[in-house]
Amino acid sequence: MNILVTGANGYIGKELVRQLCAMPAVPGYGAAEAITLCDLAFDDPPADPRVRCIDGSFADAATLAAITSPAPDLVFHLACIASGRAEQEFELGLHVNLEGSLRLLERLRQQGRSPALVFTSSIAVFGAPLPERVDDHTPLAPALSYGAHKYAMEILLADYTRRGFVRARTVRLPGIVPRPPAPNGAWSAFSSTLIRSLAAGEPCTMPVSPQATLWLMSLRCCIANLLHAAELATQPAGEHTAWTLPALRVSVQEIVRAYDARGNGQAGKLVRYAPEPAIEAQFGTQPPLHTPAAEAAGFRHDGNLPALLDHAAPEPP
Ligand SMILES: NC(=O)c1ccc[n+]([C@@H]2O[C@H](COP(=O)([O-])OP(=O)(O)OC[C@H]3O[C@@H](n4cnc5c(N)ncnc54)[C@H](O)[C@@H]3O)[C@@H](O)[C@H]2O)c1
Repeated sequence: MNILVTGANGYIGKELVRQLCAMPAVPGYGAAEAITLCDLAFDDPPADPRVRCIDGSFADAATLAAITSPAPDLVFHLACIASGRAEQEFELGLHVNLEGSLRLLERLRQQGRSPALVFTSSIAVFGAPLPERVDDHTPLAPALSYGAHKYAMEILLADYTRRGFVRARTVRLPGIVPRPPAPNGAWSAFSSTLIRSLAAGEPCTMPVSPQATLWLMSLRCCIANLLHAAELATQPAGEHTAWTLPALRVSVQEIVRAYDARGNGQAGKLVRYAPEPAIEAQFGTQPPLHTPAAEAAGFRHDGNLPALLDHAAPEPP
């Protein structure tokens, strides 16, 4: 069984690969024989004899040919240009997020093996301002190029799946925390800054108000959901092949209070607020979220805020 992970050196990709390498068998698939990783560069490649790291853009023909030989049975397509960067560098975002992804799909179609494919879409497909509640019937209306690329890919993946060219399962991720400080151009990174800073007892500045509400999921929970999506691709496609994942909805203030309750009540003093209206509108006004389709399909959130903060805590050395 051959696995391909694009964006494998990114925040989610690294943890996914770590877990794939540690698993004796991938649920629904059995043992992985070859794990091909693609990213622009690798800073700490895993020392696993099954792993092959290919640095280059998956959107380039030569790299695409290399990463799909041998033909993958399971693809995690994570590589992307994130929200802020895709807004600032339109052509790059379009080239990677849409044209590159379509080239990957075409290559998989031409290989004729109908691999399983897990695609990480985003809640950015809902756009802004959001309605009073978001559920499985909320229209998709992206308000950023990044969200538009994700939405376009969702449509294409559903069509390629309908035609039997791939077996795609798409998950719309909420904010995954805690992202490390390295900037990737994601405007939603402040939630990770908050959690990382308060866990370490360090000051931080929030580009949103204390009342800002966020949909969050820990990295650990995210990986479990990606592996679940992969397992679902081993079963016939049902009514849904794209799901908005369940997420915890919490305010910045609730996170600060949760750290106050854990420590000595100092967390509130560490946070300074400098709201930026564009960021608050896009990422800080997330209404109640209802995801019965994803829950029925077996996807889960962290359970509650203390559990999410536990899952997001740094591993002991
Ligand atoms: N982290 C989140 O909160 C979040 C939320 C919603 C959706 N997502 C989605 O999850 C996926 C992974 O997110 P992440 O947080 O790990 O992002 P990330 O930016 O940390 O990782 C993406 C990786 O893709 C790589 N990449 C970019 N262009 C490439 C190219 N042309 N060829 C090969 N690699 C390329 C980057 O170098 C990077 O390592 C993305 O598709 C993202 O849109 C993430």
